[in-house]
Amino acid sequence: MFNFFKATKNNEELNIELDEKNIPQHVAIIMDGNGRWAKKRNMPRSMGHKAGVETIRRIVKEADRLGIKFITLYAFSTENWKRPKDEVNALMKLLVQYLKSEVGELHKNGVVLRVLGDISQLQEECRKEIEDSIELTKNNTGLVLNVAFNYGGRDEIVRAVKNIVIDIENGNINKDDITKERFSEYLYTKNCPDPDLIIRPSGEQRISNFLLWQCAYSEFWYSNVNWPDFSERDLQQAIYDYQNRDRRYGGV
Ligand code: FPP
Repeated sequence: MFNFFKATKNNEELNIELDEKNIPQHVAIIMDGNGRWAKKRNMPRSMGHKAGVETIRRIVKEADRLGIKFITLYAFSTENWKRPKDEVNALMKLLVQYLKSEVGELHKNGVVLRVLGDISQLQEECRKEIEDSIELTKNNTGLVLNVAFNYGGRDEIVRAVKNIVIDIENGNINKDDITKERFSEYLYTKNCPDPDLIIRPSGEQRISNFLLWQCAYSEFWYSNVNWPDFSERDLQQAIYDYQNRDRRYGGV
């Protein structure tokens, strides 16, 4: 059991225990609210993203401590290219800096780093850093950290369909071999269970093209906190609420 304190409406502190046997295997997070966090402080948006990287460091550690096996972070969507060039460049730079400064520690802790998304579109420096980090950590056996970068759910599904068509044309598979399970193997998340819990901070309540195929039976959890302020306790609270849900998968 993990103990932590939850503030109730009366500001009374209650000791809440997480059930270690019911920790979500895969938690996915839409890291939202960096821009609003920066705006409130009269800072440029990129400072919000920078503060968001600090949250990543804390939350990845906490996820590992709690026994989560897979964590997926939505860092850059296929639609984020529409943002001002400066902001796009700042996000690319932050990913490179994060990998440069963090991958050694992640590797030491047995973390496997994977990237979901089309990295072929990224600048050489960014792509190289990603490829080196994936290579370095690929044989680890600990927490799997998926960073969704240049990722879009629809894009991922279209890519899967194209690759299936190629495999059919080359005679590698038959049309009748295609099942839901087989289809999943063509997604960026192959070898990764579907997310049990999807968290979106900042008050927004939409999926924004994130893990569209994989979220079929995910539990959703929202909070009003902006991502840079998202704490270890928020993660614990999300898991506590998850543990009190009744997942029926369409059954009774
Ligand atoms: C959404 O907030 C956040 C993003 C589009 C980027 C998230 C990226 C990071 C936290 C850092 C870079 C990633 C790594 C892995 C180092 P928003 O900008 O849409 O905020 P707003 O809705 O308040 O404007």
